[in-house]
Amino acid sequence: MAFKAVLAGCGGMSKGWLTAISSHPLLEGRVEMVGLVDLDRATADARAAEFGLEAAVIGTDLDAVLSETRPDLLFDVVVPPARAGVVETGLRHGCHVLSEKPMATSIAEARAMVGRARQVGRVHAVVQNRRFISGVRRLRRLIESGTLGDLTSLNCDFFIGAHFGGFREEMDNVLLLDMAIHTLDAARYMSGKTPRAVYCLETNPPGSWYRHGAAANAIFEFDDNVVFNYRGSWAAEGANTSWESAWRIVGTKGTVLWDGAEQFLARVVAGDTGFFRDLQDIEVPAPADDDQTHGHASVIAEFLDAIETGRAPETDGSDNIKSLAMVFAAIESAKAGQRMPIFT
Ligand SMILES: NC(=O)c1ccc[n+]([C@@H]2O[C@H](COP(=O)([O-])OP(=O)(O)OC[C@H]3O[C@@H](n4cnc5c(N)ncnc54)[C@H](O)[C@@H]3O)[C@@H](O)[C@H]2O)c1
Repeated sequence: MAFKAVLAGCGGMSKGWLTAISSHPLLEGRVEMVGLVDLDRATADARAAEFGLEAAVIGTDLDAVLSETRPDLLFDVVVPPARAGVVETGLRHGCHVLSEKPMATSIAEARAMVGRARQVGRVHAVVQNRRFISGVRRLRRLIESGTLGDLTSLNCDFFIGAHFGGFREEMDNVLLLDMAIHTLDAARYMSGKTPRAVYCLETNPPGSWYRHGAAANAIFEFDDNVVFNYRGSWAAEGANTSWESAWRIVGTKGTVLWDGAEQFLARVVAGDTGFFRDLQDIEVPAPADDDQTHGHASVIAEFLDAIETGRAPETDGSDNIKSLAMVFAAIESAKAGQRMPIFT
């Protein structure tokens, strides 16, 4: 039987959710949309019309729509400052809640969500879709295999000149909170290590069209002496990297480069003499499960599978808060001009 779901927040991103729900093979027949909510009624009506959902309950008051429709699931696609209230409302109505990233606008808010979900015995998970892609899954497998030796550093460059308009150009810490959360989460996932501390310089570069924090340089210390260097800007015109960043991951035996798209170069040492040691190319393994490489569709399917089988999904709030803690420790470090420990 299909899960009944209400979606709150019918702006730009909701189109991606509803496209996945209505047409991706991983989700076929699994979700029945029974309600759509947006503070702006016309936005909700337009989204309903686009996806043939005119029969769903459409409204501007989430509480009222949940009372009327009594769904199993709440899909939370609202702007970040509205998230805490929306999650609380969904859990109060007995829904399992899947939220867009970022999980919260502070760690205290995120901790309260984790506690509340546990208290009411419902799942609250986060759409961290950029770990559900082929390249990230492949690099995790390569690192796990030990072929590169022991991991020593992850290094990534994210430079994109993106002109969104809307809430991003007005918010604080825009790069770290709205985008780097994906990249930091990917580094934590690929390495399999626990982040312990960070030093970060956050800037709004001259010429930036954002109000605050369009660029950041952060050095993270992970367990086992692994260093993660993040360099990013959303106000960098001229030579965009991939949205996944360009990566250089180094182990004791070799290095893998990934352009964030289709290109990988992986080499390990194949000799023990010479100024530069001989090298040999190695294969980057395929993803373990192709179903985990379809972004939003994979995250939503993982959420449904977890509810059906009574286990925690991969991006459960209790795990995602560890990536969010990297973001807030970086923000605190930048404010204080000091290295900050990372706690969850
Ligand atoms: N995972 C990704 O790759 C990805 C990409 C883009 C956006 N996002 C995230 O998705 C979320 C939404 O982003 P967007 O680009 O759709 O923003 P948007 O501004 O286009 O849409 C947000 C909508 O939420 C509505 N809203 C705000 N508060 C509400 C409330 N309390 N109840 C009901 N509706 C409410 C607004 O009226 C608006 O229509 C953000 O958290 C953003 O970071 C994620």
